[in-house]
Amino acid sequence: MPKQRLLIKGGRVVNDDQSVEADVYVEEGVVQEVGPNLNPKPPSGLTVLDATNKLVIPGGIDTHTHLQFPFMGTTTKDDFYTGTKAAVAGGTTMIIDFAIPQKGCSLIEAFDKWKGWADPKVCCDYALHVAVTWWSDKQSRVGSKNFSNMRLPRKPFWSVKEEMKSLVQDKGVNSFKMFMAYKDLYMLSDEELYAALSYCKELGTIAQVHAENGELISQNAKKLLAMGITGPEGHALSHSEDVEAEATHRAIAIANTVNCPLFVVHVMSKSSARMITNARNEGKVVYGEPIAAGLGTDGTNYWNEDWAHAAAHVMSPPLSSDPSTPDFLMNLLANDDLSVVGTDNCTFDTCQKALGKDDFTKIPNGLNGVEDRMSVVWEKGVYSGKMDENRFVAVTSTNAAKIFNLYPKKGRIAVGSDADIVIWDPEATRTISAKTHHQANNFNVFEGMVCHGVPVATISRGKVVYHDGVFNVTAGQGKYVSRPPFPPYVYERVKQREEVCQPIPVKREPYAGVVSATPSAP
Ligand code: URP
Ligand code: ZN
Ligand code: ZN
Ligand code: ZN
Repeated sequence: MPKQRLLIKGGRVVNDDQSVEADVYVEEGVVQEVGPNLNPKPPSGLTVLDATNKLVIPGGIDTHTHLQFPFMGTTTKDDFYTGTKAAVAGGTTMIIDFAIPQKGCSLIEAFDKWKGWADPKVCCDYALHVAVTWWSDKQSRVGSKNFSNMRLPRKPFWSVKEEMKSLVQDKGVNSFKMFMAYKDLYMLSDEELYAALSYCKELGTIAQVHAENGELISQNAKKLLAMGITGPEGHALSHSEDVEAEATHRAIAIANTVNCPLFVVHVMSKSSARMITNARNEGKVVYGEPIAAGLGTDGTNYWNEDWAHAAAHVMSPPLSSDPSTPDFLMNLLANDDLSVVGTDNCTFDTCQKALGKDDFTKIPNGLNGVEDRMSVVWEKGVYSGKMDENRFVAVTSTNAAKIFNLYPKKGRIAVGSDADIVIWDPEATRTISAKTHHQANNFNVFEGMVCHGVPVATISRGKVVYHDGVFNVTAGQGKYVSRPPFPPYVYERVKQREEVCQPIPVKREPYAGVVSATPSAP
């Protein structure tokens, strides 16, 4: 077999810390050289891409997708094929999806199931976060909780705790998502959160939280339905900004108490973003992930008179009903109060959304983003003047790679890095539309948005998978990427704190005075 060789000529290589005019030479999926005027020999069998007047950036990493997700009585339209194909069309070369077990069910079984769905279909590299939707630390699950109505796990003698350890040691998982919402489905109590976050820290992993108060949502929804509010605006009203802010604050408090690094997924409101900003200012190890939809559109859509339009925007936490929120979140992202941009891509078409036509609590939660994330961040972040090209790379790939321990294999263009690369035209524009997008659903929340910043070519492990609108993808060509625990970017600080920030008892002479008599029981 001849070696797979690629030369990207004449572009400006942009990493998170610097930009240089340089060519990039790739062999067998790995970057071999970065420098001016490269001239690899022999010239035969070499694919050459011209990047003159273009940027050459690390492929995007979407930290938050739900492809082929069975949820709320249906399954998302985008599976691991259409979802990752759309991803590469938008300049994203790695996604991190979520394996989510039902309460009482095995985490390892969920991981294996999701991997079994993804492996034959993915068109780019991927990894899996795993959700902790219930808790047990006893060897036998039988009798540890009353799960009489739930299926028993395949390995009845393994606790959730033991499964987490095995996922880290044997399956390359270094992040777990805990839900504070979806009462009775995925929600954990504070006691369970405390246990799960404590163990996440011990394992050297990142604790992710869906920060919304599930009890308040449930009470609010009951009240609104009783008032006759059944449409999508009821979703926004029941998931008020307070609901997100309270849970964000609680998650930060719990994480800080057990010295566990925290990653707040889908940060949607100003209040929640402020909580994260404050925590970071206080030196806490907390990261916030806004999503493309939260930066590119807003929750006024829930009041649209067209039910299908309004329902298409339903997700949790909801898009903010304050139209100045997207700008606010982008400012925080630009100055490092927020860290990475995901999408929470979780697509349902209008017929699926219609499962909740008479009751907003039954509208499947989720919207698109995996294809458009890079362009939306360029338009709203870079074109607007809020961030430069280096910060763009930081928030679309590098920071994700550092936090989830993929760096510098991913998230950087350097010798030895995977050749996940995008040739990016900062001057070109495109108009986003469901009519032309590559996702499987019939609605796009960014419909009509004109974006500067267009991916001209996307390269996945050295293979040109998308070029000038033409795909060259094969289902299953992407690889599962293992992520070791203890990412240094996160854990150097955590480990040091563990050593030097322990409370020390005060040395004192034992009390020698009179002790009051214990009152006898009446
Ligand atoms: O609405 C959402 N976010 N759907 C996906 C599930 C989740 O909470 O991330
Ligand atoms: Zn969530
Ligand atoms: Zn999600
Ligand atoms: Zn497209």
